[in-house]
Amino acid sequence: MPSFVQKIQAWQQQSGRHNLPWQGTKDPYRVWLSEIMLQQTQVTTVIDYYQRFLQRFPTIADLAMASQEEVMPYWAGLGYYARARNLHHCAVTIWQDYQGEFPHSPDELIKLKGIGQSTANSIAAFCFDAKTPIMDGNVKRVFGRYYGITGYGSAIDKQLWEQAYKNVINETNIGQYNQGLMDLGSLVCTRTQAKCSQCP
Ligand code: ADE
Repeated sequence: MPSFVQKIQAWQQQSGRHNLPWQGTKDPYRVWLSEIMLQQTQVTTVIDYYQRFLQRFPTIADLAMASQEEVMPYWAGLGYYARARNLHHCAVTIWQDYQGEFPHSPDELIKLKGIGQSTANSIAAFCFDAKTPIMDGNVKRVFGRYYGITGYGSAIDKQLWEQAYKNVINETNIGQYNQGLMDLGSLVCTRTQAKCSQCP
């Protein structure tokens, strides 16, 4: 019988999102940029910003060499401007302290400004094949409904993360699973409606 992870992966392949501009790359710079933009902003809004940003700053070197003032116009309208300041700060750190290469492990990634546990895990899984789960608002809702882990606070968060790590033990291709969970949360298991007949 297919596992929870395998069902989400099969669904992602069939019915998930495939043509987003940050998909199909394992370049940590591009994955990181998309994850930061997507933290508080909808996919449809992010697409244009992401492409304009990369045209101006195609590599981490370009971003690290720029001043913060040069970066801000490319964020104007996206909101949560601390993200852009942290992004630039992080690029400078990677350029100066990491020889321009993103670290591979979540434990190192999380030390960087603006990267929390879920973003660290997402980058590590997408780019470096780590078996590390994500936990954002969408995943909380999916797990809340599927596992009955509902409510707020650190005790609930602990349960959610425990379940998330348990799921990925002995599984492969966790990047695709993480993407599938996000897609399921925004396409099927939505805030206003759980379309359970479409759920894998
Ligand atoms: N939100 C955060 N990361 C995402 C991704 N890779 N795809 C869609 N939504 C996301």
